[in-house]
Amino acid sequence: MGILRRKKLTDDLQLQNVTYKWAQELLDQAVANTWFPKEIPLADDLENWKKMTQEEKDAVTMYIGFSNPCEFEVNESIMHGMMPFVSAPEIQMYLVRQMWEEVNHSMTFTYIMNTLEIDRSKAFNLHTAVEEVHAKESFLTDSIKKMATGDINIDTVEGIQDFIRNIIKTNIVTEGIWFYTGFMFALSFRQRGLMRNLGSLTDWIARDEALHLKVGINMILTILEEYPEVATEEFADEIRDIVLEAVRLEQNYNKKLIPNGILGMNTEFINNYVEYVADRRLVELGFPPHFNTPNPAKWMATANDTYQLVNFFEAQNTSYEVNAGK
Ligand SMILES: [Fe+2]
Ligand SMILES: [Fe+2]
Repeated sequence: MGILRRKKLTDDLQLQNVTYKWAQELLDQAVANTWFPKEIPLADDLENWKKMTQEEKDAVTMYIGFSNPCEFEVNESIMHGMMPFVSAPEIQMYLVRQMWEEVNHSMTFTYIMNTLEIDRSKAFNLHTAVEEVHAKESFLTDSIKKMATGDINIDTVEGIQDFIRNIIKTNIVTEGIWFYTGFMFALSFRQRGLMRNLGSLTDWIARDEALHLKVGINMILTILEEYPEVATEEFADEIRDIVLEAVRLEQNYNKKLIPNGILGMNTEFINNYVEYVADRRLVELGFPPHFNTPNPAKWMATANDTYQLVNFFEAQNTSYEVNAGK
């Protein structure tokens, strides 16, 4: 029995055998990372906010207005695009935990909006009012809708490819590229001595998202190993094109996010970061890098780098083994 459910109940509901140890290890790590937004008071940030320019405030509003609905869209993707087709209970458990984390992230954005008195309707109407926001959202929701309403037959090559396409758009693109631009944007305020506590909340969200991304990559690589018939050259080209299209959408969006530049950062800077992150994801999926753009925000490499977070996880894992041996 492989990673996919094949239209029947999971055989091992007792979890006697853990097939995908990475899922259980990442679940342990996720639980160890548990946090709640109100652990971090935002009073100092409110003082900063009052002194910020309208353009800076508009950019933060747009960032939250795009990111908050994405938390629910990722959960829709898990509910309709992953859970119905995944067989292994250890992966199901991880995905349930992830859904709670997405809710916690949404509650964090609500906490920030309430504290800073950001107009909720203004923020949340952006996805229909601003074409560049709408384009990103449609790109993501198209694949979720297909998983929810299409007749996906996971016993066919086409069905498995649909499953992978949806993970690419949800995990690799949304959580692994678009959110990283958002983290870099939000943390740029802290780099300038502003919104320090928003920065701490962003660190925590980024730490969760690094694990979500890792699970997505592991699921894709496991499926390609278990069902090699889906990994055609055409499909590989299609996956790479999806990532490149997502970069284009993100770069258009960033022109709207900071049209005149803020915090010493212009659109070109932020879009170079998008290319750098997209290359990382392509390499993680087994493709050569496409852009070869160096990281313009070197400080992100130490603050919120996926690779380091994964290494951190591996270090933790080793220490568990040491403890187990005592
Ligand atoms: Fe999230
Ligand atoms: Fe996530």
